[in-house]
Amino acid sequence: MADLTGKKLLLIIGGGIAAYKVLELIRRLKERGASVRAVMTGAAQRFVTPLSVGALTSERVFTDLFDLNDEREIGHIRLSREADLVVVAPATADLMAKMASGLCNDLASTALMATDKPVLVAPAMNPKMWQHPATARNVRQLKADGIYFVGPEAGEMAESGEAGIGRMAEPAAILAAIEEHLAAIEGKAATQPLKGRRAIVTSGPTHEPIDPVRYIANRSSGKQGQAIAAALAAAGASVTLVTGPVALAAPAGVTTIAVETAEEMLSHVVAALPADIAVMAAAVADWRVAKPAGRKLKKTGKTPPALKLTPNPDILAAVATHANRPELVIGFAAETNDLVKNAKAKLAAKGCDWIIANDVSATSGVAGGVMGADRNRVHLVVAAGADPWPEMRKAEVAARLVARIAEHFGDSRPRRRDEAEAHPS
Ligand code: CTP
Repeated sequence: MADLTGKKLLLIIGGGIAAYKVLELIRRLKERGASVRAVMTGAAQRFVTPLSVGALTSERVFTDLFDLNDEREIGHIRLSREADLVVVAPATADLMAKMASGLCNDLASTALMATDKPVLVAPAMNPKMWQHPATARNVRQLKADGIYFVGPEAGEMAESGEAGIGRMAEPAAILAAIEEHLAAIEGKAATQPLKGRRAIVTSGPTHEPIDPVRYIANRSSGKQGQAIAAALAAAGASVTLVTGPVALAAPAGVTTIAVETAEEMLSHVVAALPADIAVMAAAVADWRVAKPAGRKLKKTGKTPPALKLTPNPDILAAVATHANRPELVIGFAAETNDLVKNAKAKLAAKGCDWIIANDVSATSGVAGGVMGADRNRVHLVVAAGADPWPEMRKAEVAARLVARIAEHFGDSRPRRRDEAEAHPS
C-alpha cells in the first residue's frame, strides 16, 4: 500500500449516482495517510450526504460559495491552492462543460477555475451523453488545457438496460491514477530547486529619448537576460523580467514588464521587491538627455544641437543597497580589457555578490562578437576569485548560472542538527 502521508487532496464531488463510490475512494485515501478535503455540488448532495463525506474525510465539507464564514476562514482560492492534486469524481457532463468553458457559478466550478494545481477527472455519465459531440468537444478542450483523465469505463449503467462507455472508473483505478500523479508531482519538485523563490531579472537595452522620435540606445539584444529569466522559471522560481525594447518574444512562464528608459526600469524593479534573487543583465544607458525636447529637433542653422547628458540611476547598485535587498544580487560587466580586474572592482563598487563578466572585445574569440549573438564566453567573478567558463550558448550560460544559484540556496538552507554535528563547520 502506497504511503500518502502528508499529501493533500481536494476532492470535488459532482452529482451522479457514482458519487456513492467516492466514499470508498475517500476511505482508501485516508488509510494511506492522505488528507482529503471535499467540495460537493448541490446535485452531489442529493446522492450522498455531506454528513457521510465529512465522517470519512474527518474534515468539514465545503458546499457553498457564498458562505461568508468560509470566505473569511479559508475561501475558494486557498481551498484550491492548498491541495497537491484536485480530483473531480464523479465528473458529470455538466461539470466538465463548465470546466471546458470556464464557467464558475458554484463553489466546485469556482475552485476548479481558481486552482493552480493539477486536476484529475473521473467522468461518469450515460453512454449517450459521453458520446454526444458536445461532451467529446469538452473532453478534447479539457485535455488540451492539461486536465488529466481516469476512465470512464465500459459496462452496465445504473439505468436498467443501458450499457456502453460512461461508467466511472472503480475506486481502485482512481486511487492508482492519484498515486501516479502525486509521484509525478514529487518528481517535478526535485527538478525545481528554486520553487518558492522569487527572482527579478533586467534585460535588454534602454532607450533614452532625445526628442519624440530619436533616442540613445545600445546594441544589447536581451538574449542573455531572457535566457536567464527562462532558466530561473524552469527551475521553479517565480520570475519578473523587466526588459528594455528588444525584438524577442516574452519567455513563457515569466511575468514580463516592457519598459523604455532606465528610470522606468528602476521603478519596476523596485516595485517587484522583495525577491530572493536579482540578476541585472540589462545594458542600462549610463546617461540620458537632461531635458528631452517635447518636439522633434529641427535642422535650424548650421550647428548641430548640443545634447546635455545627465547620469541615469544605477539599478544594480540601488537593488544591492536597498532595505529589501535580495539575498543574492548578480550583476554583469561588459569589458573589452582587464576583464577580471575590472569585474572585481565593479563587484565592490556596486555591492553585488557575483558578477558575470563578459568579454565584448573584438578579440573575445566568440565568432561574430557577443552583442546580439547566441554564444557567450564569461567569467563568474566573486570576491574570492574568478571562474572562467568555456564559450557556450547563451542558454547554456543561463542554465549553468541557475545551477550555481540553486547550489547557493541549497547550501544556505538551515542545516538539520544531526547534519551539523556530523559535519561541523
Ligand atoms: N547597471 C544598472 N544600472 C545602470 C548601469 C548598469 O543596473 N545605470 C548594471 C547592469 O545591468 C550590469 C552592471 O550594472 O549588471 C554593469 O555595470 P556598468 O557599470 O554599467 O558596467 P559597464 O557598462 O560594463 O560599465 P563601465 O562603462 O563602467 O565599464
